[in-house]
Amino acid sequence: MTTLLTTHDIARIVAAHGLPSVLRRLEEAITADFRRWLAFDKVARVASHSAAGVIELMPVADATHYSFKYVNGHPLNGLQGLPTVMAFGVLADVATGRPTLLSELTITTAMRTAATSVMAARALARSGSRTMALIGNGAQSEFQALAFHHGLGITTLRLHDTDAAATAKLVANLQGVPGLILQVCADTAEALRGADIVTTVTADKRNAVIVSPDMLEPGMHLNAVGGDCPGKTELHPGVLSAARVFVEYEPQTRVEGDLQQMPAGFAVTELWRVLLGQAPGRQHETDVTLFDSVGFALEDFSALRLMGALAAELGLGREVDLIPALADPKDLFSQLRAPASQRRAA
Ligand SMILES: NC(=O)c1ccc[n+]([C@@H]2O[C@H](COP(=O)([O-])OP(=O)(O)OC[C@H]3O[C@@H](n4cnc5c(N)ncnc54)[C@H](O)[C@@H]3O)[C@@H](O)[C@H]2O)c1
Repeated sequence: MTTLLTTHDIARIVAAHGLPSVLRRLEEAITADFRRWLAFDKVARVASHSAAGVIELMPVADATHYSFKYVNGHPLNGLQGLPTVMAFGVLADVATGRPTLLSELTITTAMRTAATSVMAARALARSGSRTMALIGNGAQSEFQALAFHHGLGITTLRLHDTDAAATAKLVANLQGVPGLILQVCADTAEALRGADIVTTVTADKRNAVIVSPDMLEPGMHLNAVGGDCPGKTELHPGVLSAARVFVEYEPQTRVEGDLQQMPAGFAVTELWRVLLGQAPGRQHETDVTLFDSVGFALEDFSALRLMGALAAELGLGREVDLIPALADPKDLFSQLRAPASQRRAA
């Protein structure tokens, strides 16, 4: 049997442990797997582009577990009452190929993306960072906000979205979080003024310029989450030139990240090297550091394993016969015989 985890199950896991604890455990799990980077069989994700958006498959495996995620990105989905990003994923045993877990990954993607952002900022941002600009106040934004508040001690959020209703929704959702000050800003430049960390998490299917070089301040850390597809970027190329740039998996980010705007030889550092102490992160207080986040399959691998384990502890999930249970493994045909009850009814 395969365990099925629905949106409801993931919400119950979060209710049982609290979001700060789940985000922290996700960051720990993702960090541990990034530190095992060389143990994984990695490939850039496979993307299917259309005029409206993209659908992607994201596989990764180590010697014992294989996972993949199905995820889309359709920035105009809101007009049809659908989220921009929707996802589900599978965890399987490498030894047999048996799928052990089939899980929702829409909420989980928002949590794992925020946890990965904090993992990067922990290594790259100035210690003592307290103020974060949050540009793009849609579905991912509360998860980013709370991950940085609880995980990194961000106390002031400076918010901007071209859709004022999105910012109002974020403010309503986070109103009353102890120790968190929310400041709504008229534009991105105002939001970035005095920010230690800048998170961009907008959705638009074009080369947008959310952040331009004139908005940068010495020592800023940028967490650029929304530029994650060919032809879909958030940063002026001058921002990358001014920064030390860190990526998840370089072959994928060269194609999908804000990095796609830079020449092939533009220097970047893969995060796992920093986490293992093989490459420096921030070197000076005045460095501008940039995590050019696109989302890598390993983050979903870590998340699937963690959420599967937390569900098992809580007795959540339903066993489903995704794969036939055969008395004789060579007799698949027997599965087509109608159950006795149906034969009687006929
Ligand atoms: N890097 C990753 O791992 C990762 C993971 C998940 C989602 N994403 C990306 O994050 C982005 C946001 O996802 P979401 O689910 O929150 O989408 P969403 O559609 O719910 O929210 C996006 C918000 O961006 C706002 N926006 C668009 N253009 C803007 C601009 N110029 N200035 C300010 N705000 C602007 C929109 O009004 C909207 O409220 C998407 O681009 C998605 O592909 C990346």
